[in-house]
Amino acid sequence: MNKPVQNDTVETHPDWSHVPDHARHVFLCTGPRCTQRGALQLWKALRRQLLEHACIETPRGVLLTRTHCQFPCNLGPIVTVYPDTCWYGVRTKADVQRLVDVHLVGGEVVDDLLIKARS
Ligand code: FES
Repeated sequence: MNKPVQNDTVETHPDWSHVPDHARHVFLCTGPRCTQRGALQLWKALRRQLLEHACIETPRGVLLTRTHCQFPCNLGPIVTVYPDTCWYGVRTKADVQRLVDVHLVGGEVVDDLLIKARS
C-alpha cells in the first residue's frame, strides 16, 4: 500500500495554504542555459520593476515564478506569461522594463520580444 510521503518538520505558514489571487502568472526560466545568459540578473530586474509598479503578488497582480528549462533555450532567457500564453525571449534589463511596462502593466503584447503566442 502506498503511504503519502510526509515530513512533519516542514515549515508552514497560513499564507501557504491558498493560491494567491493574480491576474497573470509569469514564469522566468532559470535553467542552465538561460542562467548563463543572465537570467538571474533579469530575475532581480523583473522583481524590482514589478515592485515599483506595485503589481507583484498583490490581489489581481502578477504571480512571479522561477522555473527550470522551458525548452527553447537558444532563444532565452525565456519568460512566459499566462493566461495570455505569450513566450518571450528577454535579453536585457531594458527588455524586462518593456515587458513590464507594455505587457504586464499596459496589457499589450511586446511584438519584437515575442517568440510564440497562443495560436
Ligand atoms: S534553460 Fe531556459 S529554456 Fe532551456
